[in-house]
Amino acid sequence: MAGNNGDQKTSVPSRVRQTGETERFARETGIRVEHSPLPETSLAQLALVQKLLRAHSASPDLIGIDVIWPEIIDEYLLDLKPYFSSEISSLDPDLIASFTVKGKVVSIPYHMQIGVLAYRTDLLRKYGYTRPPSTWDELERMAVRIQAGERAEGKKDFWGYVWQGAAAEGLTCNALEWQVSQGGGRIIEKNKTISVNNSAAIQSWQRAGRWIGWISPPGVLSYTEADATNVWASERAAFWRTWEWKYRLAHWREATLPDLTGYTSVPGGAAARVDVLGGTGLSVSRFSGHPQQAMALLRFFINDELASERNLAPAPGHTQPELYDLPWFVGANASSQKLGSPPRIINRPSDVTGQAYDKVSQAYIQAVHSVLTHERSATDAAALLEKELVVITGYKTGPPQPLTSGGN
Ligand code: GLC
Repeated sequence: MAGNNGDQKTSVPSRVRQTGETERFARETGIRVEHSPLPETSLAQLALVQKLLRAHSASPDLIGIDVIWPEIIDEYLLDLKPYFSSEISSLDPDLIASFTVKGKVVSIPYHMQIGVLAYRTDLLRKYGYTRPPSTWDELERMAVRIQAGERAEGKKDFWGYVWQGAAAEGLTCNALEWQVSQGGGRIIEKNKTISVNNSAAIQSWQRAGRWIGWISPPGVLSYTEADATNVWASERAAFWRTWEWKYRLAHWREATLPDLTGYTSVPGGAAARVDVLGGTGLSVSRFSGHPQQAMALLRFFINDELASERNLAPAPGHTQPELYDLPWFVGANASSQKLGSPPRIINRPSDVTGQAYDKVSQAYIQAVHSVLTHERSATDAAALLEKELVVITGYKTGPPQPLTSGGN
């Protein structure tokens, strides 16, 4: 599949699709970039990428990997440390750590995200709110009122809160935020104890179960990221759980409904206010036939992102959306208003589950989903999940650990 320039091509699965940037790269370097399609959700993408990497000859060159994959596919990826030392030194050490496995930097962070709550700035003003919710209780009260008001004005399919309730990784992100904010732990703790079967986690799932049909549409149980985005784009919800990242803030006009959307951290519960870490890193396959071209594209993407972040300085006027109570991660200068203590950024337990993370997450997703659909009581689902996680990981059970000062 060589292009005009002999072997000057590189292939990239579409998790990192950036059409404008890729075209610029191709113009500047003469290297042809082929994007290959990927399924929509993270664990389905992982399954396909694993299959391609195992069949060495079909291996993509540059791979955008979800922050939860490094421990699962590290053996197929090049150590990038020798090639990117200057980029690595300008990036956040915690983020580099998220992509370091057994001393190898298998990926360079790119478009790292945190979970956030998007809110309709116009509707908050219309209903007399001066700030977005900071707790789940407040979110419920505001969602109920705005939903009732909008429906009374004829928008019959308007809902208070949309999120990702399909049986996919997006649900792990949502449900982890619910339970950690309630003091229910990280499913599996840093000390490798399975903590998920506890009353705070159970209560947090029960609360989310009550949202369905009340402030969240029944269809939320099959919403992926794209489905929730579509509801938001068609102005049918007051609040939306989504992702924010620095690059997006630098290009915020490309976001969905840019003029009507503000962002704040995910609401807090009895214990804390937390935002899950998400996002992508760029890796080069050990089996790539075009490693130099892949490295060149990787360097191009990273430098483009670093340049955008340097330009993020808030100018007065309309240079960024309304931002409220966001942690440093999306730009320290991004918080136009600050209240209380800053929310924590938390990791999913992919760092302590090694190669088993996808099985752990699938089991968690099934358990939470069965509670949301009322197939199982939350108490039964948590007890069953605990048993499954013992079988999957071989770890012992134990209580949730308090959040450390580092946040996760
Ligand atoms: C986003 C995040 C990723 C997460 C996924 C879940 O793509 O970047 O980390 O796993 O959403 O839907």
